[in-house]
Amino acid sequence: MGLLLDVEDLRVYFHTRNGVARAVDGVSFGIGAGETLGLVGESGSGKSVTAYALLRLLPMPPGRIESGEARFDGVDLLHCTEAELRRIRGRRIAMVFQDPMTALNPYKTVGDQVAEPLRVHEGCSGAEAWARAAAMMESVGIVNAAERMRSYPHEFSGGMRQRATIAMALVMRPGLLLADEPTTALDTTVQAQLLALIVRIQREQNLSVLLITHNLGVVAGVCDRVLVMYAGRIVESASTEALFERPRHPYTQALMEAVPSVNATREVLYSIPGMPPDPLQLIEGCSFASRCTHVVERCRCQTPALLPVDGSHGRASACLRVQWGEL
Ligand SMILES: Nc1ncnc2c1ncn2[C@@H]1O[C@H](COP(=O)(O)OP(=O)(O)OP(=O)(O)O)[C@@H](O)[C@H]1O
Ligand SMILES: [Mg+2]
Repeated sequence: MGLLLDVEDLRVYFHTRNGVARAVDGVSFGIGAGETLGLVGESGSGKSVTAYALLRLLPMPPGRIESGEARFDGVDLLHCTEAELRRIRGRRIAMVFQDPMTALNPYKTVGDQVAEPLRVHEGCSGAEAWARAAAMMESVGIVNAAERMRSYPHEFSGGMRQRATIAMALVMRPGLLLADEPTTALDTTVQAQLLALIVRIQREQNLSVLLITHNLGVVAGVCDRVLVMYAGRIVESASTEALFERPRHPYTQALMEAVPSVNATREVLYSIPGMPPDPLQLIEGCSFASRCTHVVERCRCQTPALLPVDGSHGRASACLRVQWGEL
């Protein structure tokens, strides 16, 4: 399968006064054209750092990319020049963040901000950029878009602001959208509308999406495939269908048991007993061992790799007992 993005052995460490935090520790995955890939895991598991690293948006130092490659259409995002990256960032790969206020400039009208990349990067005239921006705003569901473009971000509701940042991200028709918890800050109705919107545009434009979320319900509704992340590593990867049918890692299982409904919140996911390991601590063996109900002695000394299981495509687990056929 031709991959649009192919990430291999990504390691991002933070070199802090208290030691080295292994935020992302050997992550590999690919995204096909038009595919929506979910990245789930508890707070601190390394989801955002993974996405930010791909566009080199991390503070470095203290962050450092220790290893890895991320090939996007023949370019290694992690090692290309700044100039090459600027041609890709915001144009061919766009990002939507959790808090729309951080992405919007409070001193410029929303319309100016959506139109700006068209003027700057595509050399559109002011009028043409404005017209295309208005069309994009319409298509993300902003009612009376032509009028609302003259508003400033603070005049928009939270949901509308996030619609505007989605319009901003998609106006350049990128091939890949990195969406980091784009709906967590919003109420459930708006959340559902925005997800439906992302799915619609994704299909219309054959857009690839990396969707970062705490919410397994969101994954079930939107994603083709899922990566489950724990303590800086991917512990399970599967098609969404297969994952929900039969999780193949005790952590995924625990996540699912901690989710009573499709409207699960951050707090609910926290209810897995125990705490994720301290990223400053170098752990021997499986990082989930201390919280795992299936733990055996070998788990505490042998670090499990993410290996194919069940002989099926794209199904992989980093649990020794699953790999041995015991679970
Ligand atoms: N600038 C930084 N300096 C030091 N450590 C950092 C920095 N940014 C992130 N980290 C650490 O990297 C790890 C992964 O963080 P990350 O933000 O990727 O988690 P996450 O999975 O996105 O969590 P959340 O669901 O809460 O957004 C955490 O342990 C975090 O403390
Ligand atoms: Mg995050």
